[in-house]
Amino acid sequence: MSKNKTTSHKSFTLTNDQTGQTVKLPVYEGTVGPSVIDIRKLYEETGHFTMDPSFTATGSCKSRITYIDGDEGILMHRGYSIEELTEKSNFMEVSYLLLYGEPPTSGEYDDFVHNITYHTMVHEQIHYFFRGFRRDAHPMAVMCGVVGALSAFYHDSLDIWDPKQREISAHRLIAKMPTLAAMAYKYSLGQPFMYPRNDLNYAENFLYMCFGVPAEPYKINPVLARAMDKIFILHADHEQNASTSTVRLAGSSQANPFACIASGIASLWGPAHGGANQAVLEMLAQIGTKDRIPEFIARAKDKEDPFRLMGFGHRVYKNYDPRAQVLRSAAHEVLQELGITKDPMMELAMELERIALEDPYFVERKLFPNVDFYSGIILKAMGFPTSMFTVLFALARTVGWISQWKEMMEEPTLKIGRPRQLYTGSPARPYVSIKERS
Ligand code: SDX
Repeated sequence: MSKNKTTSHKSFTLTNDQTGQTVKLPVYEGTVGPSVIDIRKLYEETGHFTMDPSFTATGSCKSRITYIDGDEGILMHRGYSIEELTEKSNFMEVSYLLLYGEPPTSGEYDDFVHNITYHTMVHEQIHYFFRGFRRDAHPMAVMCGVVGALSAFYHDSLDIWDPKQREISAHRLIAKMPTLAAMAYKYSLGQPFMYPRNDLNYAENFLYMCFGVPAEPYKINPVLARAMDKIFILHADHEQNASTSTVRLAGSSQANPFACIASGIASLWGPAHGGANQAVLEMLAQIGTKDRIPEFIARAKDKEDPFRLMGFGHRVYKNYDPRAQVLRSAAHEVLQELGITKDPMMELAMELERIALEDPYFVERKLFPNVDFYSGIILKAMGFPTSMFTVLFALARTVGWISQWKEMMEEPTLKIGRPRQLYTGSPARPYVSIKERS
């Protein structure tokens, strides 16, 4: 069972080499993975802060949702491996697992799916929000705006201290993200919005809202729908990554859940994070042919060149990202289903992977393909434009964000996040008026 209560029987003693002062800091152990040193009393006892600019060595919270072992290439949700979940489960069941901690019984599953299904429509006036955007607006810009605006419509679920209202907001967000994402896509095409259909499952409904048109019936392709569902599972949650930490920090100020998710969308957009799936396809297009791969590998290694091999490397994984492996086989399935026997992008990607994984620079730095390396190839083959790739990542990650937010809100105390700093600016000085200055 997971360890809810953190008790400490171990400690670290810190010594100030100049003064000899020592401070004993408690150590907490988790169910699995590195222990943590609790530094909360460090400033009070030593007058020192710690320094960890990108929080790579800092635990920001306790969590029971997801665990990653970067060295072993392990990813599990509530103890279940990502490989088993993508193979044997589905996105709705994984969403329930992330939200509530245990897999649902069949009755709980049916109730959950019913709740999500009956929240998929958005308020009709939200359609007008889209009219304000240029048709060529990046769909992530649209999603930042429209998801944040949801808090202007659902006043009956904004009380963050009411567990029932928190649950309704979570269901609304999980249910409405596909509808809004599809609307952003349709708007960019100048095509009419497609209303959700309650007779379709989550992934089928999303594909229908994206690729269906009112003029004719839309035929669901079960292989593509299953691949879409797998892609959603693979992107659902990933510990305290940049966007999840953004959601938690926004939530710590007691902002409403819709605003918190909008902040997560904004953070995910960056090409170093969720925006990488779009950047991978743009990079492959830029490379163009296999004979140009060495040129780009050289650029990726050149410290003077800002170019990075998009879809490679990870802040935590120093082994293969398990999600990339699942996506690579899913890519082959989708291409085969679509009769794309020779996809130049896929061939280029596999050749790039082969060459990079033989290059000492990447091997020494343990830079393996990550979740974004193959996802774009599948999404492009399914008909999505590259600008929609990160929107799909945000759609799937919403359940992870809102589960982490829910976990934070269920903690006995909610404290606003407030990092400190090392001040290196000017010492105190008197103001001099501009007349005397010039
Ligand atoms: C996601 O955090 C999460 O969990 C994120 C995510 C999730 O599900 O939420 O997994 C989703 O964001 C996946 C990552 C997608 N981003 C990309 O694919 C962009 C390309 N990758 C890089 O920008 C980079 O790898 C990062 C940002 C992902 C990680 O950056 P770090 O932590 O700085 O990488 P590192 O410390 O491991 O780097 C070690 C060395 C450095 O060189 P040296 O100083 O040792 O000489 O490797 C180099 C880096 O410059 N390096 C790369 C590289 N990634 C790292 N060199 C070339 N190409 C790359 N892609």
